Amino acid sequence: MSETTDPFSAPFGSLFGDRMTVAVWNDGEYRYSGQAGPFENFSLHPATHAFHYGSTCFEGLKAHRQVDGSLAIFRLDDHVARMRQSITKLRMQAPEAELLRTLIVDAVEANASFTPEPPGSLYIRPTFIGTLENIGAAAAPSDSGILFVICSPVGDYFKGGIRPLSIYVETETPRTTPQFGMIKSGANYAMALGPTLDAKRDHTVDQVLFATGGDITETGASNFFLVDDQRLITRNLDESFLHGVTRASTLTLAADMGYTVEERKVPLQELLAWAEHGEAFLSGTAAVIAPVGEIVIGDEHIELGDGRPGENTLKLRQALVDIQIGAAEDRYGWRTIVAG
Ligand code: COI
Repeated sequence: MSETTDPFSAPFGSLFGDRMTVAVWNDGEYRYSGQAGPFENFSLHPATHAFHYGSTCFEGLKAHRQVDGSLAIFRLDDHVARMRQSITKLRMQAPEAELLRTLIVDAVEANASFTPEPPGSLYIRPTFIGTLENIGAAAAPSDSGILFVICSPVGDYFKGGIRPLSIYVETETPRTTPQFGMIKSGANYAMALGPTLDAKRDHTVDQVLFATGGDITETGASNFFLVDDQRLITRNLDESFLHGVTRASTLTLAADMGYTVEERKVPLQELLAWAEHGEAFLSGTAAVIAPVGEIVIGDEHIELGDGRPGENTLKLRQALVDIQIGAAEDRYGWRTIVAG
């Protein structure tokens, strides 16, 4: 736990609401008591499958205090669908969408009083762990598990608020394996950690953009976009990287705002040429839309535009935030109003 209780000064994700929801999966069924309980530790067998063989995944979504004082979860059903997909891709039985939805809503309602005012929010972390107790089950999925939802009052993901980020482009080491790319699994973050720490140490950057063999994908904790006054460009989806919900929202909003939207391969050479006139940003639930001021390739530092957050980036960020906090019309049914 953090020493401060202020979400704007505590590290992102280090504060917690005092309630959580838990469902237990065994004998082919998920069982939930029907209400949130206290936020507390689990007692787990040392042979628990998730400890040894990575049978775990999670989601990240947010509830936002609305301008009218109510509370809304952003794109709840899309996160439910992605989490069910992650569990299925880990070859375990996903819960019914309705159950997962209920676990999330109940957790948010029970922790609603922890929600900071915008630009803060309540970060929601549904998590699944396989609990089979067998250290021999390396080539078998867990047939039991725990699905739980915890909530964390948060401010900005990147220290220092909206500021131009510095990004190192990694062309050798991939972020993760292609077959794991779409699973929101801790293993992917563990694999990205080495190259990220090395780049932070050697080049003093904030994040690493993975561009294995020169083909730009994502940074590990967020998707990557190029934008100028006319066009918004991002890598087309495939199984090798996470299908960001914020990425999808950004594409929809940009098209509504009149940008020409391109989802396609983005070669590194294009990024270099783009830097002369255009902007770049990261997108993610945690990152929201975060401007990139500089890219580092090898020892070369390349400034994007004048190095400051670009106008188009900030315009898109505002459009997204306005929908999240209920300051703009919810044309696509992205907000789920909950009690609290
Ligand atoms: C999110 O944006 O929700 C993420 O999963 C990023 C996480 C590493 C904090």
